[in-house]
Amino acid sequence: MLTLGINRPGLSNETFLLLRDIIYKRCGIFFPETKKYLLETRLSRRLEERNLKTFEDYYYFLTYDGEKDRELQSLLNTIVTNETSFFRDGPQLDAFRKGVVAKVVEEKSRGASRSIKLWSAACSTGEEPLTLAMILLEEGLHLKGWNMEILASDISDNVLRAAAAGVYEKYALRNTPEQYLRKYFNGQGESYTVSRKAQDLVRFRKINLMESLETRMIRGMDVVFCRNVLIYFDDASKKKAIGHIYDSMEKGGYLFVGFSESLHNITRLFRPVSIERSVVYQKI
Ligand SMILES: C[S@@+](CC[C@H](N)C(=O)[O-])C[C@H]1O[C@@H](n2cnc3c(N)ncnc32)[C@H](O)[C@@H]1O
Repeated sequence: MLTLGINRPGLSNETFLLLRDIIYKRCGIFFPETKKYLLETRLSRRLEERNLKTFEDYYYFLTYDGEKDRELQSLLNTIVTNETSFFRDGPQLDAFRKGVVAKVVEEKSRGASRSIKLWSAACSTGEEPLTLAMILLEEGLHLKGWNMEILASDISDNVLRAAAAGVYEKYALRNTPEQYLRKYFNGQGESYTVSRKAQDLVRFRKINLMESLETRMIRGMDVVFCRNVLIYFDDASKKKAIGHIYDSMEKGGYLFVGFSESLHNITRLFRPVSIERSVVYQKI
């Protein structure tokens, strides 16, 4: 067995399979064999923190210890990839602003409802839902009497804590258009906060996309953003997450997945539509 730099036995294939199974069952993230080393590196931090000598000890801790639920949450916080930024993937946001918002408003104006509901379903530290809030404010829907709600959720409590603090480094703002920078951010140097107006539109919640018990209260969504998380799931997990998202949406509602993600072979319950040269999925 290989040993890591700090004199610890490496992660054996057997224990890798056991640990990846725990992770997969809990959050749908699938580590193929090619990512074993990545998992080993990320888990090493947890072993150090818990003062455990081997990955086998860690497996037993996760399975039997009284602290196992708390440790599982820390494990998830360690292994998920949280990369995000304000105004990420501009063309999709153009499709949202120029196409989807107008279509939803037009459709709803035919009925009695003057309310638009959005869900950012794997929101990381909050940049995505706050971007959506700024875009809606810029479109002036609130001035025309519309009620706007944005639910933002993630499985990791670390990122949700950061989102609640609402303070961002300059790097997170690197794609933000000048007009939004001036209007919706306060700060200078390295540290920025988002304007109260935008923050007030967003509600943060801890929700695991794999758990129907956690998603079943979410209903009536007009637009869902589930970007850059499906890539970490295998097909079975993608189907589960997309099924829960489907149930949360209004008929005719719009779903954005990441630029490099697709629902091909996952579901036929959405129709791909091209809006402003981006592919958006519409609930049939
Ligand atoms: C790369 S970030 C994407 C953030 C944002 N949507 C974007 O595109 O910029 C992926 C997020 O998915 C979250 N995640 C992973 N598995 C999840 C699950 N089963 N349920 C909910 N969120 C999950 C991670 O915690 C992480 O914050």
